[in-house]
Amino acid sequence: MFYKQALARIRRSSLLVLPLLFLTSLISADLDVQNTRRALRRRSRQPPQFDFYILATFVNLTGHGLWPNNMDGSYPTNCGGARFNDSIPEQAIGMPVMTTYWPNFQYDVEDGGELYDNLWEHEWYKHGTCTGLDQYTYMTTTIAGITTATPTLLGEMAATAAAVSPPHPPSLPLPDLETAFGGPGMAVLLCNGKKYLTGVYTCWTKDSGTHKPYARMQCPPAVVAEGTCPKGGEVVVPIFKA
Ligand SMILES: *[C@@H]1O[C@H](CO)[C@@H](O)[C@H](O)[C@H]1NC(C)=O
Ligand SMILES: *[C@@H]1O[C@H](CO)[C@@H](O)[C@H](O)[C@H]1NC(C)=O
Repeated sequence: MFYKQALARIRRSSLLVLPLLFLTSLISADLDVQNTRRALRRRSRQPPQFDFYILATFVNLTGHGLWPNNMDGSYPTNCGGARFNDSIPEQAIGMPVMTTYWPNFQYDVEDGGELYDNLWEHEWYKHGTCTGLDQYTYMTTTIAGITTATPTLLGEMAATAAAVSPPHPPSLPLPDLETAFGGPGMAVLLCNGKKYLTGVYTCWTKDSGTHKPYARMQCPPAVVAEGTCPKGGEVVVPIFKA
């Protein structure tokens, strides 16, 4: 008898408990959603997560891209956000500036399929969206980097070439070039066929306020390791051929 009453009481209470459990799970599910939303909002307001910038240039020291990078060599890519707006390079900045400082060498006039903007669009989606800068600022900042760094790099190369001549060589010993660029890590040189200079990386600190590149710095070992010119060998610098 007592047992039966107890059982009935338990059944009654479990009838109460079940809706309570249901309600609790609804509330906690809603809290989860709210927490996730809050976390997403927090993430989208967070400053971009990377340590410094690589300013990548091609053989003529024109722009390749401005890449957010981490000290360990890793880097964020394709961070999402705004769609590429082609009127920023074409109109707001203008083609004369863009084709001077950030030309698309892969563009083939004969190939109607390839758009001249493809290089910029690729750089914006892959790297620019991870900088925390809007597209206009990302592109003008890249060009500012090129106009700041390139004359310095060209001057350093020319001075070194002059010191090594006569005769004025199209090729320079890699250690001399590295010294000209400010010593180990101040520029990372890329070579094709372990011989022809095809690009130069310089590293730049990130301004914590504006998220823009701030000052040239020594590239960390992970980026130095990306250099592909022959150690102790000669590097042919095509721009000296003229
Ligand atoms: C580099 O510049 C020279 C002259 O300014 C030009 O003739 C040459 O095509 C350029 N090289 C590349 C890879 O565009
Ligand atoms: C694209 O850029 C142009 C020039 O800066 C601007 O006027 C226009 O509003 C932009 N379009 C979009 C969809 O953001």
